[in-house]
Amino acid sequence: MPKRRRKPKNTATSDVGGEDSVVLRETIPLQLRYYGDPVLRKRAEPVSEITDAERQFADQMLMTLAATGNGIGLAATQVGVLKRLIVVNIGEEDDEAYEPLVLFNPEILSSDGEIVAEEGCLSIPDVTADVKRPENIVVEGLDAHNEFVHIEADGLLARVLQHEIDHLNGILFIDRISGLKRRLLSDELQRLQRAERPS
Ligand code: NI
Repeated sequence: MPKRRRKPKNTATSDVGGEDSVVLRETIPLQLRYYGDPVLRKRAEPVSEITDAERQFADQMLMTLAATGNGIGLAATQVGVLKRLIVVNIGEEDDEAYEPLVLFNPEILSSDGEIVAEEGCLSIPDVTADVKRPENIVVEGLDAHNEFVHIEADGLLARVLQHEIDHLNGILFIDRISGLKRRLLSDELQRLQRAERPS
């Protein structure tokens, strides 16, 4: 969800190696996957054990998110890795500063209310639309240290968590807008689907 204007951070390449690091040897930032890539429609698998390799991957996801300059959330699916992992960094909202969040196996336990807000997606560049979602949610998962996390979220945090958890289920925000609005976006989406991307 690119929403915030943030200065791109310098992301030096990190020296990642060791076993289980086929993914981790990729350069940073990790290559984003874009609309039309079938991986974005797949369901990600739960992470059974949070190892050092998983922690390093989560760090790379945070660096990749920072490198976008305006992204506030990223799901592993968006870098082509079908693991249930999201990272969120919304910075500040209503004078409240939020720490970057790493969440493995996030689950929405409950939700209520309804609110419409504009969304975008790093995997669907230059497309935004109003999306109706529950206003308040309760999310649980595990952090990078395998600690249980319980989050009661509203506002931007609730929205970005729902958007990123959708990615883990192969759902994009454009799936949640009305058919009419989606038809208005269809030329743009077809253009994205045909676009040449670096691989
Ligand atoms: Ni997205």
